[in-house]
Amino acid sequence: VQFDPITYLRWAKGNHSTPAAVDLASSGMASRSLEDLNPRPEGLQLTAPNFYGLPALHEAIAEHHGVQADEVLITAGSSMANFLATMSLTRPGDTVLVEAPAYEPLQRLPALFGCSVAPIPRSESDGWALDPTTLGEQVQRSGATLAIITNPHNPSGVFLDAGRVQALHAACADHACTLLVDEVYAEFHPHDAAAIGGLVQERLVRTSSLTKVLGFGPLRLGWALASAERIAHMHALNDYAMVMHGSINELLGLEVWRERERFVDEARRRGDFNGDIVRRFLSSRDDLDWVDPKHGILGFLQVQGTPDTQVLADHLLHEYGVVVVPGAHFGRPDSIRIGFGASADMVRKGLQSLGRALDEGKR
Ligand SMILES: Cc1ncc(COP(=O)(O)O)c(C=O)c1O
Repeated sequence: VQFDPITYLRWAKGNHSTPAAVDLASSGMASRSLEDLNPRPEGLQLTAPNFYGLPALHEAIAEHHGVQADEVLITAGSSMANFLATMSLTRPGDTVLVEAPAYEPLQRLPALFGCSVAPIPRSESDGWALDPTTLGEQVQRSGATLAIITNPHNPSGVFLDAGRVQALHAACADHACTLLVDEVYAEFHPHDAAAIGGLVQERLVRTSSLTKVLGFGPLRLGWALASAERIAHMHALNDYAMVMHGSINELLGLEVWRERERFVDEARRRGDFNGDIVRRFLSSRDDLDWVDPKHGILGFLQVQGTPDTQVLADHLLHEYGVVVVPGAHFGRPDSIRIGFGASADMVRKGLQSLGRALDEGKR
């Protein structure tokens, strides 16, 4: 297989090996520890029914989303759900549409399966939204069999409501194209989980995980929601990758799920509180613009008069110990992506340093 390395992930993993003093790059809540589970689960066991995932976790995920258990596939994070969905939905030579700017792995995935990729342009001048009519026309013109989007959008954090997602899905389905929606940040936004895609439908696959909002990425637990036929096909592909699931992960995942309301609530409150800090900072600067994502902990800042923010990002890291993601990783070098899921003090400190670096002319 011919493939290109995912430069963003190389960059992100390299960064984590020498943690920055101020992290404005991470896109999720900081990893929690076992002590955050209260009470700490007793009687964890190595062996549990786990060839296809723990039934109780399966059912809990299905119930939360208002779907049947056979419409859920438990995976090693949403990364694996996206991988299996793309593999299941493509054949070599297909055209796959992927939003741009995008989380790089989503743009690169289709090439692994011999597909070509065309961008679905998203722009700040439209509030990073997606227009169903435009998407439908693009699907028809290109003959694409799969279209991939994130909701909320990484990097901008902008959320499309259930009606919009349903219209995008209909626009794809009308031309025999499947819509894959990565919803890994969705719980930051108040919404009805069962309404977002209109339950499970043909030609719609939704993916998510315990990583970004709940803060349990190290459990490597995610899922795909799709029609029972699609899930069965993905199960068969999964047999090549995972003979069995990690029972300890899934037993812990079930404990997390039982307390998910608390974790979601904390994450939303953190996002809303820190979001106001970012808003106040941005209102004091005329050299930074964003589309306000309203909720969540992600923001994509356009830096005026800066065609490439790499110099700014390097300066922030080396002079101030602050890490932000250069927009080049999303195909938009004039921007930086910030994550504001850290403590309010950290976020203030990071933004203060960003202001200083810009005032010093590091652009
Ligand atoms: C849009 C998107 N999808 C998936 C992932 C990976 O998440 P997981 O830990 O669920 O594999 C990320 C991580 O940055 C992401 O931004």
